[in-house]
Amino acid sequence: MKSTAIKELLAKQPIGETVEVNGWVKTFRSNRFIALNDGSTLQNLQCVLDFEKFDESLLKQISTGAALKITGKLVESQGRGQSVEIQSDDVFVHGTADPETYPIQPKKHSLEFLREKAHLRVRTSTFSAVMRVRSALAFAIHSYFQQNGFYYMHAPIITGSDAEGAGEMFRVTTLDPKSPPVDEKGEVDYSQDFFAKETNLTVSGQLEAETYAMGLGKVYTFGPAFRAENSNTSRHLAEFWMIEPEMAFYDLDASMDLAEDFIKQVISYVLENCQEDLAFLEKRLLDEEKSKPQNERSDMALIEKLKFIVDNNFKRVTYTEAIDILKNSKPNKKKKFQFPINEWGADLQSEHERFLVEKHFKCPVILFDYPASIKAFYMRLNEDGKTVRAMDVLFPGIGELVGGSQREERLDVLQQKIKELDIDEKELWWYLDLRRFGTAIHSGFGLGFERLVQFATGMGNIRDVIPYPRSPQNAEF
Ligand code: 4AD
Ligand code: MG
Repeated sequence: MKSTAIKELLAKQPIGETVEVNGWVKTFRSNRFIALNDGSTLQNLQCVLDFEKFDESLLKQISTGAALKITGKLVESQGRGQSVEIQSDDVFVHGTADPETYPIQPKKHSLEFLREKAHLRVRTSTFSAVMRVRSALAFAIHSYFQQNGFYYMHAPIITGSDAEGAGEMFRVTTLDPKSPPVDEKGEVDYSQDFFAKETNLTVSGQLEAETYAMGLGKVYTFGPAFRAENSNTSRHLAEFWMIEPEMAFYDLDASMDLAEDFIKQVISYVLENCQEDLAFLEKRLLDEEKSKPQNERSDMALIEKLKFIVDNNFKRVTYTEAIDILKNSKPNKKKKFQFPINEWGADLQSEHERFLVEKHFKCPVILFDYPASIKAFYMRLNEDGKTVRAMDVLFPGIGELVGGSQREERLDVLQQKIKELDIDEKELWWYLDLRRFGTAIHSGFGLGFERLVQFATGMGNIRDVIPYPRSPQNAEF
């Protein structure tokens, strides 16, 4: 007999039919009632055991966490809390879970505790809901680009370049770390390394995506990015997933339009397709908020927040306008910004970004035309000579969700910039070739996938929206 997913059984409800399900025991009550979950839905299926058919030795093996195959007739349930249940004829124990040592017991566990059990936490309702939403978002992202004429491009994971020029890279080497070969100057001799040069894990697939956009027209990457930045925050990971669309013949305005439409569409997809999980996550947040003082509670519930994004325009503001607003603002009556903004040219901290989004405009904000000095080398210089065509999409509760720009397409301007920043031009010969052969305006952006999942699920810490978070001093699993 073929087994059926619980989600499908609950949707179709083939009353009277004999069915087979596989799953893990959530709870086992009165030696009779098993709540079984198989991950296909938040809902458990109640399986009722007939005392006479099952002996003591089998019943002893059933406890929270055990994996079972249950066969029986699907009937309407007399009990409260479920519409159907299985009258179990046969129970096969795939594997037991010793109640003395199985950590995921049917009670509320803290997220911190569950982070230490990352290999088992997906069996909880919260994590299963988050991970289903994550999966749906990934699907929606691919669908969006595939339906809009983009090609999926796989950027390399191991690279010889530093796309962001920020030097926050994980080195990839086959040299012996204890005694690497050295050259006559006493420096590590990378010519003896596997690739005969210094290489690292990619921080962004952008530069390679640019080369593909300048041939395929519109491309996107969706892959892991690695950053050895020492940021122990609830928004940073050392390994995260990034979506990077890159479009030939797009200027910054066209790219901002795309970013806004893209984000709205994928959120709309989860609103339609993840209703059960979102409702659960919303309730979870409301319960959590009850313990907070009134003024720290959010004024919108999760689903309302998501709908707000879909239904409202993002506010577009230049960096210069934002600085004027920030200079004349205080985050609240008593407090100043921790890093007050005194002058044009300062980089915005997350407190400023959040002020603009959450207090001032009260909607997502796209900040653009940043000072050249605080942005990466590849961004297109504006006619004013001091700002670049950069944009960041800032989101409530998240801060920066997207970073992007129009790229510098003029060879001489790009070479000049590379020189100013003391970047080795030889390393970027292939990137500069794009400006030598058939150059054209082009633009793109990167969206941090985990930050999007955080926004969609309302999870406060980025470590709780990726299966195995990597952060400083944390790669246990
Ligand atoms: O702003 P970033 O650094 O931009 C780039 O990497 C460009 N090359 C993108 C492009 O134009 N193709 O990163 C883009 C986004 C950020 O806005 C943020 O959402 C996310 O990636 N991000 C991180 N997410 C989690 N942990 C980190 N350490 C992140 N660093 C960036
Ligand atoms: Mg950025």
